[in-house]
This record gives sequence, structure tokens and C-alpha cells, in this order.
Amino acid sequence: METSVNGSSSPTIIQWFLDTRPLWPVPGNLKPKEEVEGLKTVASRALSLLSESEQASVLKYYHLKDAKMSLASHLLKHLVITKYCNVPWSQSTISRDANGKPCFTPTNATKPVTMDFNVSHQAGIVSLIASVGFDVKVDVGTDVVCANERELHDYAHIEKQGFFDWVDMHGDVFAESELHYMKLSPVLLDIGIPNEGLSGYAKDALSRCQWRNAKLNLKMTVANGQESSVQVESNIVVDKKLRRFYAMWCLREAYVKMTGEALLAPWLKDLEITEAQAPNAATGFQDSTSLTRGEVVKDFKIFFKGRKVTDVKMELSALGPAYMIAGSLKIPKGSFNLSIGPWQELNLERDILTVAERSF
Ligand SMILES: CC(C)(COP(=O)(O)OP(=O)(O)OC[C@H]1O[C@@H](n2cnc3c(N)ncnc32)[C@H](O)[C@@H]1OP(=O)(O)O)[C@@H](O)C(=O)NCCC(=O)NCCS
Repeated sequence: METSVNGSSSPTIIQWFLDTRPLWPVPGNLKPKEEVEGLKTVASRALSLLSESEQASVLKYYHLKDAKMSLASHLLKHLVITKYCNVPWSQSTISRDANGKPCFTPTNATKPVTMDFNVSHQAGIVSLIASVGFDVKVDVGTDVVCANERELHDYAHIEKQGFFDWVDMHGDVFAESELHYMKLSPVLLDIGIPNEGLSGYAKDALSRCQWRNAKLNLKMTVANGQESSVQVESNIVVDKKLRRFYAMWCLREAYVKMTGEALLAPWLKDLEITEAQAPNAATGFQDSTSLTRGEVVKDFKIFFKGRKVTDVKMELSALGPAYMIAGSLKIPKGSFNLSIGPWQELNLERDILTVAERSF
């Protein structure tokens, strides 16, 4: 299914993201609360597009980065409604469904456009996925993670208690099989041979690896059948396991948010995503803030209460060195060719402010 920033009433899956990190810079040396106050001036054009209560909900944040993401989230939600539901910006009112999931309820429309949308924000990036114009509502969900946002904090815990303990801290929201998988399933290493080439107890060593700042001596079988060995820093293995944890988190959140049940879902431990590896980031970054597209993974399986789920499509995309964005959609009966495409980065001025002001 084609994604587009051009309004269209044909069935469409929209996937946008906005990078708020460079937007609305406020003068330095201010206290957090003063920085948020400063947003009133530097983001006055964007804020004026929101209702008074929405503006207040943006300006209530303590940290500027959270206020900016909230502002971007409001803009993206209004934008998708305005562009695809044939309503002026001023009438693109956002309400919440019975579970609290934000939605658009058209009023006075004889044949309203069906729409579901979902937003996520993390470390400056705000994503939006929407389904528009299908015969029935297609539920969608998204989540963004930034695998190194809390790196120092994550490392501090892992160095003290180990990676397995760190995974167990989040035990309540993962299935038991996922907890085992995230701890023990060997990660794929870039050491010039596939994992199948590892011999002896090398795979066990990778499975058991949970401490940083150690060295693993791995035996492997090389091309001519001879045994060789390679030394690997445990930090590389733990980093890969950590990235896989965030990948799993991101996929689960996108699924849970698609359903709208979110924190209220009593079935969190009955949802199992199996065989998921984290998508690799693109390589050769000159700039650590880059959002260059990396790998996309989709070859995992989803089980719910032990039964394979076949009517949900999910994908996880790497963006820059540390971000991953997941999209999830519930496929209606008979629509098997629905797909999730690449995420499209929006430009604040061109794609949002200008469009909003034209259609106010
Ligand atoms: C609100 C919640 C749904 C997402 O929170 P989060 O991951 O911290 O934040 P995200 O940035 O990804 O998502 C926030 C957005 O979720 C949307 N949201 C709020 N309630 C929602 C719901 N019931 N269903 C779907 N989306 C919801 C909102 O649009 C919100 O952004 P906005 O306030 O700017 O409009 C969260 O409270 C939650 O319930 N998470 C799922 C439960 C969990 O513990 N999961 C762990 C792994 S499975």
C-alpha cells in the first residue's frame, strides 16, 4: 500500500515521523522550566495551531524535549485528520475511545472516512501510523525506541546485577518464552563466520554472556574444517542483547497500542513474539544524530494464548545508529495485501505548518 503526504481517500497506510531535536531551539543556560516557557516564543507559530487546552498540555512538561515531542504529536495527529478526513484543521478534533486511545470521531459527515491512527515519541523522534479509507477500521499501532538513550543507566545496572537481572526487572510485561529468548538466545556476531561455524561450547558462552568488560574465547570451525578460536569482547555481546531487548519492547508496544488496551491489557504475558532479531543499523555514520535507514525485520512469529496470530502485520525498522520504529496493523478479513512501507520523514515547515495554515 502506498504511503503519501498528499491527501487521498483511497485505502492508505500512512507512516510519518518528525525529528524534533533540531526544532524550536531556545537560548542556552536556562533552567528546564524556563526552557519550556521559551517555547511560547520560538514555537508560537506551531502552538497557535492548537487549542488552548492542547497548548497547556504541551507547556505543562518540565523538560523541553518532552514539551517539543508533545507539540509534534499534536501537530501530526491534526495533520493526518485534516489531510485525509476532509475537515479543516480547526475541526480536526481529537477524542479518545473507550480504552483511552486517541481517535477522530467525525461529526456531520454523511459518509465519514474510516481512520485509525497512533503516535509514539522517544528521544526527540515522534512517529505516526494511520490507516485511512478502508471499508472497515484497520487498527494500527506504533512505537519508537532509542536503544542508547539510557545507556549509562542500563550499563550501571548490568555491571552490578548482570543482564539477566536487568531483563527480569521488566518480567511483568513479557511472555516467559520471550524472557528466556532475550537472555539466552545467541546473538549474531559480525566475526566473519556465521554462528553455525561456532563449535565446542562457543554458542553456550554466547548464551550465558551477561556481564560487561570480560573477554570470551570462542572456538570455531573454519573453511578447511580446522578448529580456530576468536576472542570477543563481552560488551559487544551484551550490547547486541540490549538492542534485541529494545527491539522486542518496541514490537510489543506497537502491538499493545494497536489494540488500544495498553496498560490495561490483562493478556500481556499471553502475547509472544518469537525469533525476533533487532534490525541492524546502517553502517558508516559520520554523524551520530543521523537517521539513515537501516535494516527492516519482519520475519518473526506472533502467538496469542499459544495460537499463531495471522491477522496482524508488524515490521521493525532501524533508523540511525540507535532508533527503531515499529508499526503494527490488524488486517481485516480478505485484505491480505496490506503492507507496512518505509517511514517518511516530514519537514515541519513544508509538510505541516504550511498545510495547516492553508486549511485552518
Ligand atoms: C500510553 C501507553 C500506551 C504508551 O506509552 P509510552 O510507550 O510511554 O509512550 P509512547 O510515546 O509510545 O505513546 C504515547 C502515545 O500513546 C497514545 N496512547 C495513549 N493511550 C493509548 C492507548 N490506550 N492505546 C494506544 N495508544 C495510546 C497517545 O497518542 C500517546 O501520545 P500523545 O499523548 O502525545 O497523544 C503506555 O502507557 C502503555 O500502556 N504501554 C503499554 C504497556 C506496557 O507496559 N508495555 C511494555 C511492553 S509490552
